[in-house]
Amino acid sequence: MTRRTLKLDLPSEEETAQLGRTLARLAIKGDVILLRGQIGAGKSALARAFIRARLGAEVEVPSPTFTLVQTYDAGPVEIWHADLYRLGDPQEAVELGLLDAFETAICLVEWPDLLADLIPQDALDIRLEVARDSHVATLTFNDTWHEKLDTLHVGA
Ligand SMILES: Nc1ncnc2c1ncn2[C@@H]1O[C@H](COP(=O)(O)OP(=O)(O)O)[C@@H](O)[C@H]1O
Ligand SMILES: [Mg+2]
Repeated sequence: MTRRTLKLDLPSEEETAQLGRTLARLAIKGDVILLRGQIGAGKSALARAFIRARLGAEVEVPSPTFTLVQTYDAGPVEIWHADLYRLGDPQEAVELGLLDAFETAICLVEWPDLLADLIPQDALDIRLEVARDSHVATLTFNDTWHEKLDTLHVGA
């Protein structure tokens, strides 16, 4: 399967939020979005904008740092927001129900490295980096995500 990459400049928090909102328009049941990058890179900011775009601007989106997952009832589909920084063992993700949620919900996963070989291969992979003048997002994705991103001319 072809994997493509796309780099986006995110000069301010607003562009990070905009990317989250754009992805919120595209994501459907069974989609997994991996959010990589160091502390402060904007992973949670992106996830918060995504969740608020689907559920309403007033919705509280606490960081799931300690609970590991936070779930949101978004009509017919649930949104799972996971922060796996404190995951002890990939098997814990199975116990949390996260592997099932990869199939049945929309999942936003911070620190996905902790899943090791349980990372879904068809996920949209987003790496956020803090560069000198801007944050930069590198998106890596397969054909399905390519078609979806194309419909909104993301990165064009
Ligand atoms: N593109 C950006 N440019 C500047 N600041 C940003 C950008 N994206 C997010 N931020 C800010 O960086 C801070 C840390 O973001 P956060 O989402 O908590 O990071 P993470 O979850 O990766 O640790 C927040 O205050 C957020 O608003
Ligand atoms: Mg975070």
